[in-house]
Amino acid sequence: MRHLLKPDDFTVQELNALFDLAADIEKNPEKYARVCEGKKLASCFYEPSTRTRLSTETAMLNLGGKTLGFSDADSSSAKKGESVADTIRVISCFADIAAIRHPKEGAAMVAALNSSIPVINCGDGGHQHPTQTLTDLMTIRSTLGRLSNFTVGLCGDLKFGRTVHSLINALARYEGINFVFISPPELQVPDYITDMLDDRNIRYDIYINMEDVIARLDILYMTRVQRERFFNEEEYIRLKDFYILDAEKMKKAKNNMYVLHPLPRVNEISVEVDKDPRAAYFRQVQYGVYVRMALIMTLLGVKAP
Ligand code: CP
Repeated sequence: MRHLLKPDDFTVQELNALFDLAADIEKNPEKYARVCEGKKLASCFYEPSTRTRLSTETAMLNLGGKTLGFSDADSSSAKKGESVADTIRVISCFADIAAIRHPKEGAAMVAALNSSIPVINCGDGGHQHPTQTLTDLMTIRSTLGRLSNFTVGLCGDLKFGRTVHSLINALARYEGINFVFISPPELQVPDYITDMLDDRNIRYDIYINMEDVIARLDILYMTRVQRERFFNEEEYIRLKDFYILDAEKMKKAKNNMYVLHPLPRVNEISVEVDKDPRAAYFRQVQYGVYVRMALIMTLLGVKAP
């Protein structure tokens, strides 16, 4: 039995196979409309979500399966003190696969250790968000046409943003990726990530000002400042509008630089950028459904028809 707890639970070859399957699903959705008939997905969301929960549930419905679950810890027996370990044992009696989001780092790992069904980590605290990473990689592959030899700028809250941590880990395994970290000093990428890049001799540059580097980028990955992970509201308010990508800044970027964002957006991308053909963040949401369909099939051992 396999789980997805972090992006490197899959080898690069396995990821490529997953993206090939997702691309075929995009082209021939009707071929896959019944492959999970009779299967059930439980979504156990202890933290708010729009995209990840609904995208994962849509993925199962598109495959002909069914869904059940909770979208709020307070409407589950967590409110009465039930542990994640006990909850997943119970969910294993109801469903064939579980998707879990939890505010505590390592919660998905605890679930997997106590589960008799595959577990998908849909975000654990500030740690990892691997299905977002699959979505991001699929979007880069589809827009840029490759997953190697490009310069990616990651901008915003690189300290608390779990999508950033997962994406750097995943991209570090591909050839010729240059990382550019753009953040205020207070929100820099954690040392354990830069240590990993140093160990592998992977190049990265650190900038505070986006305009100093935007012209070099092939991908600009914007992120919001993660209010829910701050201990101090005043600090959040001071930093929340540090970066705002607008049409003026986009003029300095390459014609084929794509803008990604895991969403939700708060204020960091001006809505005027939405109509720029280089804005790929809503296409990214659609790719997330195809890649989660491919992931559910893979974890359940369902073959393409
Ligand atoms: N990208 C993402 O995780 O969005 P949600 O919080 O809406 O699931």
